[in-house]
Amino acid sequence: MSFPASRPRRLRATPAWRRMVAETRLAADDLVWPLFVVPGEGVRNPVASMPGVEQLSIDQLLAEAARGHALGVPAVILFGIPEGKDETGSSGWADDGIVPRAIRALKGALPDLQVWADVCLCEYTSHGHCGVLDDHGHVLNDETLPLLARAAVAYARAGADAVAPSDMMDGRVAALRAALDGEGFVGTPIVAYAAKYASGYYGPFRDAAQSAPAFGDRRAYQMDPANSDEALREVALDIEEGADVVMVKPAGPYLDIVRRVRDTFRVPVAAYQVSGEYSLIKAAAANGWIDERRVALESLLGIKRAGADLILTYYAPQAARWLAEE
Ligand code: PBG
Ligand code: ZN
Repeated sequence: MSFPASRPRRLRATPAWRRMVAETRLAADDLVWPLFVVPGEGVRNPVASMPGVEQLSIDQLLAEAARGHALGVPAVILFGIPEGKDETGSSGWADDGIVPRAIRALKGALPDLQVWADVCLCEYTSHGHCGVLDDHGHVLNDETLPLLARAAVAYARAGADAVAPSDMMDGRVAALRAALDGEGFVGTPIVAYAAKYASGYYGPFRDAAQSAPAFGDRRAYQMDPANSDEALREVALDIEEGADVVMVKPAGPYLDIVRRVRDTFRVPVAAYQVSGEYSLIKAAAANGWIDERRVALESLLGIKRAGADLILTYYAPQAARWLAEE
């Protein structure tokens, strides 16, 4: 059938038709809110490169998380900025570290809010790399695994609803699963940053988390932006090792990867709209060049349409509010 019998505009003519034939729907339940927690009390440090984002002490974190939860955001993911850093990132896997303390406080005050914990060493190492180093500054894979596993167990013990390894070491999902199970946390899901690219879009995050590498870059462990088949191999490995949810990161520039992962595997897919994606929208909006609400919601809808079930985004509470208004 072709024109004039076929007229696609018929089903676009009214708001009711458009709603009824919409193929993709974005909901607050799809969103996970990344939050940065710092030591101290009454602390709210604005992150210059991420307007609207602050480093929060635990008391302020509780207030912000409660605000997000009230708007319908079901989950937060925590990133810790510790008091001190060392070669092995020991403040990242200590039982009384900043993230376990934040998890206990959040679960105590807001038991229905899902609290996920990012698992990596870069916020906690003096050199800012995601694993421990050899004498030449190379990140050691197998030596890093037990430290990541210790961190995951510490977060599970504190009450985390999921642990999310973002380090890109080989075999870390298996290491985390074995350690969690060994400590009795068989019910703690692993959200694996399975296809995590070595991206320039992480720039603002490294200010927020104070986790920029002191030398070199992360290309020897994060993925080459040129690759797509490799993402499927990474995802397959993580599922085999026990990942419950697999993540693609960044989201917007990698929607083709989100779609391929969605079409290839039958597990929940998460996508992370990273700091740089957020800051680009914020900067253009601040200049009056785009309509922030339209562009932010369109960017999230695009990620959903590409096949993501869950979206990690700094827009989570604002998007939840906008969606409630629609
Ligand atoms: C740490 C980590 C990073 C992000 C999440 N976990 C930064 C990095 O790998 O350098 C990026 C998140 C963002 O940019 O919003 N492993
Ligand atoms: Zn890291």
